[in-house]
Amino acid sequence: MCGIIGAVLIRGQVAPLIRQSLKRLEYRGYDSSGIATVEEGRIYIKKDKGKIDDIHRRLNFDLLPGVIGIGHTRWATHGPPSRSNAHPHIDCNNRIAVVHNGIIENYQELRESLVDRGHSFLSETDTEVIPHLIEEALQTTKGLDQAVGKILPKIEGSYAIAVLDTSGTSLVCARKESPLLLGLSNDGFYCASDVPAFLPMTRQIIVLEDEEIACLTTQGATLYQLSPKGKLFKLPPKSPTTVQWTLDMAEKGGYPHFMLKEIHEQPRVLRDTLRIKKAELQKFAEVMNNHQTICTVAAGTSYHATLASRYMFSQIAGRFLHSVVASESPEIIDTSLGDEAVIIAVSQSGETIDTIHAIKDLKRQGCTILVITNTIDSSITRLADSVLYTQAGPEIGVAATKTFVTQLACLASLSICVGEITGKQTHEEARHLLEELNQFPELLQSIIRNQESIVKETAQHYVAKPSFFFLGRGISRATAMEGALKIKELAYVHAEGYPAGESKHGPIALVEEGFPVVFVAPNDRTRRFILGNVMEMKSRLAQIITLCSGDDERLAELSDSVIQMPSNLSNAFSPIGYVVPLQFLAYYAAIQRGYNPDQPRNLAKAVTVL
Ligand code: G6P
Repeated sequence: MCGIIGAVLIRGQVAPLIRQSLKRLEYRGYDSSGIATVEEGRIYIKKDKGKIDDIHRRLNFDLLPGVIGIGHTRWATHGPPSRSNAHPHIDCNNRIAVVHNGIIENYQELRESLVDRGHSFLSETDTEVIPHLIEEALQTTKGLDQAVGKILPKIEGSYAIAVLDTSGTSLVCARKESPLLLGLSNDGFYCASDVPAFLPMTRQIIVLEDEEIACLTTQGATLYQLSPKGKLFKLPPKSPTTVQWTLDMAEKGGYPHFMLKEIHEQPRVLRDTLRIKKAELQKFAEVMNNHQTICTVAAGTSYHATLASRYMFSQIAGRFLHSVVASESPEIIDTSLGDEAVIIAVSQSGETIDTIHAIKDLKRQGCTILVITNTIDSSITRLADSVLYTQAGPEIGVAATKTFVTQLACLASLSICVGEITGKQTHEEARHLLEELNQFPELLQSIIRNQESIVKETAQHYVAKPSFFFLGRGISRATAMEGALKIKELAYVHAEGYPAGESKHGPIALVEEGFPVVFVAPNDRTRRFILGNVMEMKSRLAQIITLCSGDDERLAELSDSVIQMPSNLSNAFSPIGYVVPLQFLAYYAAIQRGYNPDQPRNLAKAVTVL
């Protein structure tokens, strides 16, 4: 998740304005930044690794000349943070500069064919193919807008781009599945990933739709529809809407808290994560398959993702995984594992000291280390033999939400890949599982749309209860544990996440009239046993809150409160969907109890002490 901005001013100097806008987009990524401007037939670029203020102190962005410019703040996806990987990127002749937010899935193929045609590349990014493609297109088309239109159908994946060239008369921007807005004012015309970039300049906004292109000049913004063949059809002018948000609200996308914004972002980041290249998964999967023992190490919410993955790997790939809490790893993992074992370390931040210690220790023992993280260049990546990156973008709320579903998506994709290698899944079956997995972004969208207000009411109903159980069987045990962790972290309510089948061996002793028990009960092969557990709790007069399939009438009938989930949601990956209402439950319980869910007491986003 990066931030982009483009501006065409009627007068003045654009660079200081772009720098300040980038600063307001820094929450979208902050590992490198850059600005390009154009004046008198020449492109000027300043960019580097690091935060915008530090780079500005060294390079002074404000000295860049001209009234047209583009800027970028990066959250690295392809290629580590470095000066050469920082945007803007240019063509061979330094005549075109591009900033991009998104992921180009076919960049490898595009890059190889461009290299064959004599282009030279300066970075490891996927973005750099764009200026080179435009460079070629400009040889046969008239104008930057036509050239951009011509190349976009070649790009698979997602993009929001802003492009300028040495003609110095216009700035062209376009989007597909990555956000891009236009801002209109009396002093200039802008495009940016998000509203905060514009706020001091304008509140007049136009939302650019997928496959629309805008050409900004000092005269205004012209919008085009892009045809599948790359032709541009002029659109009638759109009337802008006025945003009323304060800067603080705008940074949170209009939501009152980052956590709520991040819950709502889940469909999109999930889609981005599911775009991970098959070749990268394959590499991981082969290493896993070549080892006798597979252990996962992780902490907190990441540990719950690994716990869910045990069920995926055993049922889909026929491989048993040992899931170890990172801080326990030195005590529990046999020192004789050596090179027979592969360790999958999962960490959102890549900085959790427990996880880092565990893998240092295991590395010394000769284990192979595979890492799944959300943070490029984090400490954990330097200890890894191979790394997979989730594509959640920066998560600001302390409680993990969107990073959890992206970790699950990575692990689910891997389990399918390993399943195909081990032969537990035929090619056809693996393809079918992948199709099921790829339905989740849309399913999450519908869960968010249909369940948020219901869960909010449920939270209201139970808010005064001092203690909860969250129970689930099979893979839902992990979902239940994550649900309990969330409400503990945010609403400071005692909650136990437990395997439902185990609840009769102790926890049930606490149950008396009105005790709330949340059941995570998808319609999978554990459901008939869950029914029994529900009855056990009911007969002790517990209040039953059930998350179950929308068509599960029996469970709905037995429950005091029901949260209905889409009945077509794949059981193999159910935590990806079932966790969402539990995130809402914790969020709204915290709000109703008067706590700030973004900054829960005593907790930190990355825990760097043992
Ligand atoms: C902290 C955070 C949790 C997170 C855990 C592990 O406790 O508050 O949200 O799950 O660390 O963090 P990691 O970055 O390793 O996933």
